[in-house]
Amino acid sequence: MSRYQPGLSGPAGETAAQASTPSLAVPLAQGETATAAESRAPLKPSDAVPLPDYLKTTYSWAYLNPVSRALFDQWFVVQGILWGNAGRLVRSVLEEVEPGQRVLQTACVYGSFSNQLAEHLGPEGALDVIDVAPIQVHHTRRKLQKLPQAKVRLADAAAPGDGQYDAVCCFFLLHEVPRAYKTAIVDALLETIRPGGRVVFVDYHRPHALHPLKGLMKVVFAALEPYAHEIWDEEIRQYATRGEAYEWRKSTFFGDLYQKVVVRRR
Ligand SMILES: C[S@@+](CC[C@H](N)C(=O)[O-])C[C@H]1O[C@@H](n2cnc3c(N)ncnc32)[C@H](O)[C@@H]1O
Repeated sequence: MSRYQPGLSGPAGETAAQASTPSLAVPLAQGETATAAESRAPLKPSDAVPLPDYLKTTYSWAYLNPVSRALFDQWFVVQGILWGNAGRLVRSVLEEVEPGQRVLQTACVYGSFSNQLAEHLGPEGALDVIDVAPIQVHHTRRKLQKLPQAKVRLADAAAPGDGQYDAVCCFFLLHEVPRAYKTAIVDALLETIRPGGRVVFVDYHRPHALHPLKGLMKVVFAALEPYAHEIWDEEIRQYATRGEAYEWRKSTFFGDLYQKVVVRRR
């Protein structure tokens, strides 16, 4: 199994430990973790978390460009990309988390995913959204400004910060990252949950052999998503280095084109 090596394929030049160390001088409120304080702080150039190579080379058109961000961040666009399944997939995440819980969302998502998640957690809950791209952090902070239980900060999902969350939601991120990065992210997220807590992965899955969209999805992946075929060929569980320490449950949707994998820490 290929392994993620900081500085080569991942957050270049930075170890996971360095990346997870909050770098901002924000005074901590009573009982507040450094990570939570970091999510309140304005971004400065010195806070930069290196952009992974795959994001710059493969996905800059989708996530780093303000015009496409404005175009894609519409509910009907997200519904179209997911063949009308966006609402159902979001609901499948919400049913795994409870109001009042402390939850990590591992990357910004176009549409209303974060807003629905924060509303579901309620004022007693806490949602930490991270993203490696400053443009996405700024934008999502604006989207969530009326939901004080939600905070957005700059971090790589492979080094998400000081953890112990009740739940972690990883929504359509894994198919976009190279194989070694998949393992780095899965391992890091499994580490951040408390005993009894859950990581919820929602992503693509190998569709049924007779799925009418299978051929078209192959073309889309070949053209735009060079790392997505891996998630058709392997189980998410295979990315975990210490998967046996967790309970795994998988369900699929829409002729198996999508999957939800729920991992519970014993
Ligand atoms: C969640 S993924 C795909 C979501 C889905 N396609 C949508 O509808 O938005 C897109 C986000 O992941 C972020 N991202 C990519 N690699 C990341 C990483 N290693 N850590 C944190 N965020 C990452 C990108 O900056 C982008 O905002």
